[in-house]
Amino acid sequence: MLHLAILISGNGSNLQSIIDAINNHQLNAVIDVVISNKANAYGLERATKANINTSVCVKDENLTANEKIINVLKKYKIDLIVLAGYLGIISKELIQKYQSKIINIHPSLLPKYGGKGMYGINVHEAVIKNKEKESGCSVHYVNEEIDGGKIILQTKVKVLSTDTPQTLAKRILPYEHKTLIEAINIIDKQYDK
Ligand code: GRF
Repeated sequence: MLHLAILISGNGSNLQSIIDAINNHQLNAVIDVVISNKANAYGLERATKANINTSVCVKDENLTANEKIINVLKKYKIDLIVLAGYLGIISKELIQKYQSKIINIHPSLLPKYGGKGMYGINVHEAVIKNKEKESGCSVHYVNEEIDGGKIILQTKVKVLSTDTPQTLAKRILPYEHKTLIEAINIIDKQYDK
């Protein structure tokens, strides 16, 4: 059984899809902790409702957010860290401590529309501006290059001529949920070997 830590910054719909997949036995995993870099992230309420431990990690005069995250993770035996709508920076130290054990869901067909500044609605605005015929989402390993790690799974989604960034974002989101669950299952099967 995979022990997961989920990092969030906002609504937490990707977190919710993992909670639901575990409850529906589509994932052989347990979420040990949900960590947010925003105290008001709705995803924290989703975690609390599901009786999952939560922690808010914001830098203060003594520790950076990443140092706090590392201290929280130390309390558990985490197999996989999932960045699910997480908008904070992942430090070199955290990446090294959890080498090839951190994945991210990104709302584009990487390597296109990835990298610095390419998150949330910015991605879909750029896709529409460039008149792309297709977009989608990618689950990838996290390394020191933003959105640059090895891709685990991608799903293509058609871009309609009538699409706005908002309608495209809305249509891609459910595919993110589905692709993220499938990617975690791919990793789980690698652990079983
Ligand atoms: C999603 O659009 C996802 O692509 C990105 O963050 C956004 C919010 O995700 N990673 P969530 O609803 O907070 O999971």
